[in-house]
Amino acid sequence: METIIEVKNLKKSYDGIIAVNRIHFKVYRGEIFGFLGPNGAGKTTTINMLTGLARITEGQIFLRGKDVTHDIQSVQKIIGVVPDENNLYEELSGFDNLCFCGALYGMKKNDRERIARELLNLFGLKDAGRRKFSEYSRGMKRKLTFAAALMHEPEILFLDEPTTGIDVASVRHIRNLIRELNRKGATIFLTTHYIEEAERLCHRVAFIDRGKIITTDTVEKLLDANRDAHMVDFRFAPVSFDISQLTEKLHSRFPHISCVLRDPGTIRITSRQVTDIAPVVSFLASSGLLVQEARIIKPTLEEAFVKATGIEINLMKK
Ligand SMILES: Nc1ncnc2c1ncn2[C@@H]1O[C@H](COP(=O)(O)OP(=O)(O)O)[C@@H](O)[C@H]1O
Ligand SMILES: [Mg+2]
Repeated sequence: METIIEVKNLKKSYDGIIAVNRIHFKVYRGEIFGFLGPNGAGKTTTINMLTGLARITEGQIFLRGKDVTHDIQSVQKIIGVVPDENNLYEELSGFDNLCFCGALYGMKKNDRERIARELLNLFGLKDAGRRKFSEYSRGMKRKLTFAAALMHEPEILFLDEPTTGIDVASVRHIRNLIRELNRKGATIFLTTHYIEEAERLCHRVAFIDRGKIITTDTVEKLLDANRDAHMVDFRFAPVSFDISQLTEKLHSRFPHISCVLRDPGTIRITSRQVTDIAPVVSFLASSGLLVQEARIIKPTLEEAFVKATGIEINLMKK
């Protein structure tokens, strides 16, 4: 496997605040690599250093062997960047914005107009091409920002939260495009705070929290680590008494299972072996809880993430 991104001992501090704390990782050619973590973890700071937008405090970054600190010009020719905020001209049309980006990359007029038209088609923005960027919806803006990063046909794409804050249809469209670009050979580095997005899209992920990488592995391996966890969610009718102690009682009665209160109406039990749920339901009933639904939960990257970081998942959905 060819290493296309190599990050060594990378650190960024802002006036004493350490945003990225000595991280190491490699990305291989042809991968979709996900940088996954909650808000404030250091994802944007990292991607900005990778793309030459933020100065590195310490450490090194190599993109296809070129040192980003010393050779940013040649690096920029091979990368495309979709920042977390739209960076295009409000007063220009979609088409003109794309052509302008092409011009910045030194593309000839014919080439940039042809590729701009192709990209508008690809992103479903053909009819919007003549309209001003300022008139676009959030989803359309995101798509055009994405298209602009593809004008010079880069071999590495950096996407900072590509689907945050846009409508469901645009999310689907963008995810499909990411897969398609990857199939055609682009290496993709994306950040996200959506675990489910990382699980669906990425080949490998790094979990980042408070500036540190906690673990890096293929999605497949991370899921495997939890394959022996059997989980059942019990949903019950609302009750008026305090049930905070119930998980402990349940655990003392059934020592082989661990239990957590997922929300005020759901208890999750986890065990190494398949657990007979009838006694659990009876026990809950004798404690005054009427179980309305028991649902088997298949381990997802969410559980792997919680296990590795100790961060509860509702933090990630903000
Ligand atoms: N320009 C800045 N000045 C000072 N602190 C910053 C700046 N940018 C980011 N930070 C801090 O660095 C940390 C990481 O931020 P960021 O990389 O934006 O996280 P993420 O993209 O994972 O949400 C946060 O604590 C944030 O407040
Ligand atoms: Mg960010």
